[in-house]
Amino acid sequence: MSIRTPICDTLGIEHPIILGGMMGISDGILTAAVSNAGGLGTLSSATFGVDGTREQMTKLNELTDKPYSVNLPLFHPMVPDLIKLLPEYNVKIVTTSAGNPAKYVGILKEMGIYVIHVVSSVRTALKAEDAGVDAIVAEGSDSGGKVARDEVPTISLIPQVIEQVNIPVIAAGGMATGRGLLASLAMGAQAVQLGTRFIASDEAPVHQNWKQVLIDSGDSATAIACKTSSPTRLVKNEFFDELDALDEPGKTAMDFMPKQNEGSMRIPDDSDGSRGNYIAGTGTGLVREVKPVADIVREIIEEAEAGMAVMRQAFV
Ligand SMILES: Cc1cc2nc3c(=O)[nH]c(=O)nc-3n(C[C@H](O)[C@H](O)[C@H](O)COP(=O)(O)O)c2cc1C
Repeated sequence: MSIRTPICDTLGIEHPIILGGMMGISDGILTAAVSNAGGLGTLSSATFGVDGTREQMTKLNELTDKPYSVNLPLFHPMVPDLIKLLPEYNVKIVTTSAGNPAKYVGILKEMGIYVIHVVSSVRTALKAEDAGVDAIVAEGSDSGGKVARDEVPTISLIPQVIEQVNIPVIAAGGMATGRGLLASLAMGAQAVQLGTRFIASDEAPVHQNWKQVLIDSGDSATAIACKTSSPTRLVKNEFFDELDALDEPGKTAMDFMPKQNEGSMRIPDDSDGSRGNYIAGTGTGLVREVKPVADIVREIIEEAEAGMAVMRQAFV
């Protein structure tokens, strides 16, 4: 039996696997690779700037004719300008995150765009559904990058969100394999969104040192820094401690950007992974090899299919 769910038909994709928008990483090449492999790529936007996003979209449209999404981080002042680009590039799917989608859902729907919104609690899921979004990514605290202060893990967040909303739910946070996909579908999710796994791909535009850190990391490699003001999951090392030391009430994500950029600049000279900024989810221990995106997607599907066969025989 092939692993397909209704959202695959809605989005026009083959496999229920979505590349999460990742600042500066989910570029045109990585996004196209995931879409060409039968999943849904998501292009990151604001960090490229308006002109940079235009360039990435041009490249993306050259590399694929498959569906893809564009991530709009709603806190960013550039969002209205980015929205203006969407019709020009015939964008059909948008993933909004880091803010309240109510302000933009109407405009996006008028453009005929399918809107997916990222949430990390039942409360924000209900708010997004009320605002009129078409689907939700429920992202647990296992996820790489910004996480919610309440730190609800993916395994308990997904079923609670699914119980409460009547729109499709996509599971995100800590998943990297077919087992994670199968577990998410068993909980009622219609797809998974992965970030960390796709960083360790041939196509991801990050330095080899970052990919190596993921391969070398085990199950307890990451933790949440800046819990008071801007909780962020990343690999524990010297940089983690430096970032965490800057945490104080009232700060926002933007306040940590200069330090995060400093940590990212260190990566090319950080051969032992001790001083760089390595944003990653709890699934690092499941990332064992850097591979082409197409192989990652195929292996996830094959593992999920094999897992279904095992489950059928597991019950007496
Ligand atoms: C390096 C990195 C950067 C990210 N940047 C963004 C972002 O700009 N916008 C967003 O909505 N999510 C962002 N995320 C979250 C991903 O889209 C995705 O939901 C998450 O990575 C899933 O968890 P996983 O990393 O455990 O697979 C980021 C994640 C990572 C690892």
